[in-house]
Amino acid sequence: MSFIGLQTRFSGEQLSSDAAALLPQAHEQLLKIIDQKCVGAEWTGWYDYPKKHGFALADEINRYVDQLDVNYDLVLVIGIGGSYLGTRAVTEALQHSYQGVMRDHHPMVAFAGHHLSETQLVELLELLEKRVPIVNVISKSGTTTEPGVVFRVLRHYMEERFGKEEAARRIVCTTDAKDGALRQVVREEGYASFVIPDDIGGRFSVLTPVGLLPLALLRFDIRALLEGADTIFSELEKASGEHPVLRYAAARTAAFQQGKRVEVLAVSNPKLSHVVEWWKQLFGESEGKQGQGLFPAGLSYTTDLHSLGQYVQDGVRNLIETFLVFERDVPRRHGIEKRIRVPSQASKLDQLGYLEGRFLNEINDAAMKGTMLAHFDGGVPCLQLTVPELNERGLGALFAFFETACGVSAALLQVNPYDQPGVEAYKKNLFALMGKPGTESLGAKLKERL
Ligand code: PA5
Repeated sequence: MSFIGLQTRFSGEQLSSDAAALLPQAHEQLLKIIDQKCVGAEWTGWYDYPKKHGFALADEINRYVDQLDVNYDLVLVIGIGGSYLGTRAVTEALQHSYQGVMRDHHPMVAFAGHHLSETQLVELLELLEKRVPIVNVISKSGTTTEPGVVFRVLRHYMEERFGKEEAARRIVCTTDAKDGALRQVVREEGYASFVIPDDIGGRFSVLTPVGLLPLALLRFDIRALLEGADTIFSELEKASGEHPVLRYAAARTAAFQQGKRVEVLAVSNPKLSHVVEWWKQLFGESEGKQGQGLFPAGLSYTTDLHSLGQYVQDGVRNLIETFLVFERDVPRRHGIEKRIRVPSQASKLDQLGYLEGRFLNEINDAAMKGTMLAHFDGGVPCLQLTVPELNERGLGALFAFFETACGVSAALLQVNPYDQPGVEAYKKNLFALMGKPGTESLGAKLKERL
């Protein structure tokens, strides 16, 4: 039995048989990743990372956190794309939804450098006044505009508030071992730093210092995260060609080959919205090239059943839908399990009497099941991924599951999952519009068009 299960009962006969036909190829592609013989093999350091480096690194990171000589009650993570989405997926899933006000045993987390909104940055600076922050700036290249600009602002803020020396003890950088502006800053300022491995790209890096350091600063169990991932890699080591990772990769590829163009990842807990964001980036940036790839979209139920649910049920039939279910998702109050039943009341005007005494999660579960059947009946092939528990272990396993499935399904589409040439187009225009030296003629042309 695999730790993460895949149910395909409602994917339809055609998709099931096309996916089954692709399984031998999917298995072949997995073996190529394992043997580092796939396209982009130099970027496959993420595969089996926990055993190769992760556990030793987790000990090093936990030691660093224990020995920190500054106190803090807020961890500010500066980064964009793969440099922050995995961390945010974990913090939003496992931290208190109202963490700013309701304290649990985790310090508060805030994210910056993933957009260029001046408005939100001003509000963030306002928040920092009320907190004692530590800053983790994360950029593999060290030259990305968004985190680079925001780090400039935050560095000034930290130095003004704490003085240069203490600010230096409150800033830790995660970047390339040798290259890039951020590595240079580390050398000049003496900041603590961690290395993003050369052979792991941003969106595959959540289980490296990119995710492990901020999550350890936030007091998450990073060893459990790695153990979860290791479970999947260990299963794959002895996997037959039928492992759910392969079946999922084969199903989504078969769907694309049948003319489907969108994969919706549906969750039923709003705290999972950044797990979905992380998944969207992983598949979107890895597969969306050369006219290929399912467009990864996310929906949060039952909220979206009163919005985009209409489209899924009845709009263009170019979708497949994957329901992501965590079997054990325990509601907690002050850390202790707390359940809510629908209370009884004398007035039955709301016609909800039949729900009295039922747990909300029970109703939520029924809504998900009913939705899957309705969407299947409406012509949408549905898959279901089941993770046993919503905690660090479950999320670590899910990261490894999706990363491997992504590597395999991109290979089935014959695209290199590890580059992102399309991201350069907007950057080139941004540089030119802002007058970066050497881009003057493009800048003039763009301005004329605008
Ligand atoms: O997956 C990727 O490689 C990207 O999303 C990067 O993570 C993102 O562009 C940030 O890059 P960097 O860490 O170099 O600042």
